[in-house]
Amino acid sequence: MPSFRTLDDLDDVMGKRALVRVDLNVPMSDGHVTDDTRMRATLPTVTELADRGAIVLLLSHFGRPKAPSPEFSLSRVTRAYEEVLGREVRYVDWEVAEENVAMLRPGDVAILENTRFFGGEEKNDPAVVDRFAKLADFYVNDAFSAAHRAHASTEGLAHRLPAYAGRAMEAELKALQKALGEPERPVAAVVGGAKVSSKLEVLRHLVTRVDHLIIGGGMANTFLAARGVSVGKSLCEHDLTGTANEILDAADRANCTVHLPYDVVVAKEFAANPPSVRTCNVHEVAADEMILDVGPAAVEALGDALKTCRTLVWNGPLGAFETPPFDRATVALAQTAAALTQSGSLVSVAGGGDTVAALNHAGAAADFTFVSTAGGAFLEWMEGKELPGVKALLRD
Ligand code: 3PG
Repeated sequence: MPSFRTLDDLDDVMGKRALVRVDLNVPMSDGHVTDDTRMRATLPTVTELADRGAIVLLLSHFGRPKAPSPEFSLSRVTRAYEEVLGREVRYVDWEVAEENVAMLRPGDVAILENTRFFGGEEKNDPAVVDRFAKLADFYVNDAFSAAHRAHASTEGLAHRLPAYAGRAMEAELKALQKALGEPERPVAAVVGGAKVSSKLEVLRHLVTRVDHLIIGGGMANTFLAARGVSVGKSLCEHDLTGTANEILDAADRANCTVHLPYDVVVAKEFAANPPSVRTCNVHEVAADEMILDVGPAAVEALGDALKTCRTLVWNGPLGAFETPPFDRATVALAQTAAALTQSGSLVSVAGGGDTVAALNHAGAAADFTFVSTAGGAFLEWMEGKELPGVKALLRD
């Protein structure tokens, strides 16, 4: 495992100012934070630094603003963060940042305004790096989920101030290293989701790294079509069947077993519990039906495959899990993986997009070894890419 400076490498931080890059890019609806997982992930680092007497300045982006606007202001999440943290949190606008920060006392915690209110943040502009850097004595990156961005607050600052990985970053890096870096074999990967096109690089990379590749979701239909199966009205990228075949060939060459469903749950319309729902062999999908989930026989076989594995990486649901009954395969396999993890036979790591919601829906997330808070960053890691925010933290 590459070596990073962590909070353990920090000596006396009493009265020192820490710029801590976190990811407060949380989902909101009607002014309320609907999932505070990313906020909770920051607690070990923020609490530790504040308890050690540092002045903790939180840096984060929020959404993708084109220009500063109240809709994208981090003042909107400050109260929610305060509740999660259980101590007072100040909000600091960029206009008055230096004056406000100068008034903070050891142990105080403040959220600085959205980093993306500076046009130069996303360009990693040295002037923006300087603007941030002059507020603090050292930098902590605790935002793995933003580490695929080479921005001023995620990458530039690590070269400008003494830089450390926060506790959440450390936990992510350790878990991911265990899952694909130096995993115990055999390794299985579950890759689901709607489209092959969004995960081509993930699939190409994984076939060279894992022993079992389980493909689910809409993207499985493209692979089935590539193998000559009629998928009816299913979501399917017919123009990518050639690419799907190339991936299957690469898997063969690498001795990776690709698991595609051999029974499926189909319906004539995509709705909750439609009257036309039925389970059939994959070769029996009618022209007016669509595949919406992996079938029970295939799920049982996938569970048996997982029982032979020591490591699992999971990204994406197996079916249209938000609409019953098309959640069954995802729920059943997630529960099998959770039980194997709890019995000590499997290291299970999950992350990216809908995955956490799917595992929460299955009641399985807490029993996985590690669930990442990252979306895009998790995918880029699964593609085998080096993440700039992580690379910048490496010890020389
Ligand atoms: C995410 O939500 O995946 C991270 O916060 C990164 O956000 P971005 O895709 O807008 O950079």
